[in-house]
Parts: sequence; structure tokens; C-alpha cells
Amino acid sequence: MQTMEVYLDNSATTRPYPEVLKEMQRVMEEEYGNASSLHRRGSRAERILNSSRQVLAEVLGVKNSEIIFTSGGTESNNLAVQGIARRYRRRGNHLITTAIEHSSILEPFKQLEKEGFEVTYLMPDSTGVISPQKVAEALTPRTVLVSIMHVNNEVGSIQPIAQISAILKAQNPGIIFHVDAVQSFSKLPVAPEEQGIDALSLSAHKFHGPKGVGVLYLREGILLEPLFWGGGHEKGLRPGTENTPAASGMALAARLSFSRRKEKIQQLGSFKKKLISSVEAEHPWARLNGPRGEEGAPHIFNISFPGLKGEIILHALEEHSIYVSTGSACHSNSKEPSHVLKALNLDEESLAGAVRFSLSFLNTEEEIDYAITRINSVISGLKKFHKVTT
Ligand SMILES: Cc1ncc(COP(=O)(O)O)c(C=O)c1O
Repeated sequence: MQTMEVYLDNSATTRPYPEVLKEMQRVMEEEYGNASSLHRRGSRAERILNSSRQVLAEVLGVKNSEIIFTSGGTESNNLAVQGIARRYRRRGNHLITTAIEHSSILEPFKQLEKEGFEVTYLMPDSTGVISPQKVAEALTPRTVLVSIMHVNNEVGSIQPIAQISAILKAQNPGIIFHVDAVQSFSKLPVAPEEQGIDALSLSAHKFHGPKGVGVLYLREGILLEPLFWGGGHEKGLRPGTENTPAASGMALAARLSFSRRKEKIQQLGSFKKKLISSVEAEHPWARLNGPRGEEGAPHIFNISFPGLKGEIILHALEEHSIYVSTGSACHSNSKEPSHVLKALNLDEESLAGAVRFSLSFLNTEEEIDYAITRINSVISGLKKFHKVTT
């Protein structure tokens, strides 16, 4: 079998669509004006920014005025969490999130704790799901903000966000609900108004757009304190000369992903099923971490090979041009086991032997078949070498 490259680390980042690259180059070459300038070049750049905002508003089913461009998921999360908590502090100082959020949520919450806020970190069940009941039990009359991710980036668990929102709003309609939808957009329905979401983060590079651009959806009427101070860009909530090429690239990636989603989601689901069942058939001692089947997101799954090291598997697969990540994906430089897998109560060997596979709209059946053959032979080889007994 000839070698091909199979990129299965799409939760870390995705390959941009060729159409996106072309559009961004066109904007940089032809539409380099500053969207705030009063002359014709400025108006043309402003038009690009406005139409990009409109596309993102349309795919989310919200108003143009509710879209704030940022530098990505990390900034959107920081702006939402810190900005909302500080703006509404007089109403109360209790905040709720989960123990399995991305670090761009957990770290701002830690920062807020230093400022005197009280934060409840909810624990998931053994498949990585947060129960709405737990959210209800954690609410207090002082709760001002709840932030819960839609799809977990390490194990692919899906949080019941609409149910959680209904509980929050029934208890106190003033509680603000933020959702990190960085991993779910285009793979699962994301519709803030229908799902009762007040603030929502997106990142373009997770759906074949450019790196360094994102969106914070902020429902009309919700206020926040900015993190940066400068000009009046993005209604003064996120000052800085607008990144028009990136905004146009993000809008195009969103439009293409959104229009391709029906066919592609089905395909992702069948690729995921095929990969998991083939690996489990060959290696029944392997353990799937997180949800099984359609309970999980169609593009992310995590498998432990107890007795082996995730990092060794990663590099052995790399030899065959197959790219995956270890359990601690977003902190790949850290030797600490993943906080998400720890929250799922994995034993030490399963923590050390975890590998995350994440698919995208650009993977093909041929790639999946190649990956299955190589993954199974690499695991068998390592198992023999490390004398793993199962
Ligand atoms: C769930 C989640 N939230 C936020 C982020 C951060 O997004 P960005 O890389 O655009 O800063 C990531 C990136 O891995 C993520 O997986």
C-alpha cells in the first residue's frame, strides 16, 4: 500500500479550504484599506467586514449587530467570561463552569477567583457529559454567569446546552449563559436563539478557515467590560483595526462548511464508526474514552491503549504520515495528564495511553482505510515490543 498523508488532528486545527486562501489573498491585494477610513478604499474594506459579519450572523440565525470579531476562540472565551462577570458583579459574584472546559475558559475563571469571585466547577459523568440536574443544584441567588462548552475537544462529549439553558432561565432569567462552540460549529446545530444562549464563541481555524480570527456572539442587551481599550472598533468591545482578510476568510469558511454540513456530517459519523470498530475488533483491550456512537460528536473520539504511551503511538503513526494527538492535546508541551481524562476517572495506564483522533470535512474514505491498517499494525507492533499483556 502506498503512503499517503492522513491528518486526524482536526480538533487542534484544520486545513483551510483552497477557496478561503484565494479569497484572503484577494482581499489583502485588492482591498487593503482600513475599514475605519473615510475614503473609498476604507468604505470598500468596511463593506467586506459588514458582509462577513452578515454571513456569520446568518449561519447562527442572529442579528449582524450581535457579532463581534476577535482573534479566535481564546479571546472570545476570555472576553465573554471576564467581560460579563466583571460587568455584572454588582448582581452577584457566583459563577459556574465545568472541570472539562478548554484552558481558555478555565484560566479566566481562575483569574476571576483571584478577584474575589466564587466559581463552581461541575464534574462530568464517566462519558464526559454534564447533567442539567448538577447545574440546577449549583445555582445560587448570587449566580450571574454559567459557561459550558458544547462539544468537548478531547473526548467529543456533547453537553445538553438547550436543557441547561431552560433550567437557568426558569430559575432566574437574568443569569447569563455562555457556550464555547469552538468544536461544534458546522458539526452540530448551533443556533443561539433557539438554544437559549446569550454569548457564544467560535474560532475559524476549526472549520477550515484561517487561524487568528474568531467571533463572539453577544445577545442584544447583554453588556460586557472590554479586555482592551483603544478605538471604537466592534462597538468599543474589541478595539483594534479590523482584520478584514481574516474576517472574509472566516465568513467564507463558515458558509462553505455550513452548506456542506448535511452530507459531510453523515460521512464523518461513518468514518468514526469504522475507525472505532476496526481498532476495537483488532485490539479488544483498547478502551474508548467518552461517549459511544451517536451520543458523541461525529468528528472526535479518544481511545486508550493501556500499557502503551500515547506519545509513542503518536510518533509511531507519524512515521506513516498519520497525524493524531495525545490525551493532553491542547497542552501538548505539558507532561501532565489531561484534566479532561482525569475528570473521567481514568486509571493511570489509560491516562498515559490515550490518543485523540479528530476528523474533518476534508478526510476521505481512502485515507480512513489506510489509517485503519496502519493504526492496527502500529499498535500490534508496540504491544509486542513493550510486552503488553491483556
Ligand atoms: C473547545 C475549545 N475552545 C477554545 C479553543 C481555542 O481556540 P483558538 O485556538 O482559536 O484560540 C479551542 C482550541 O483548541 C478549543 O478546542
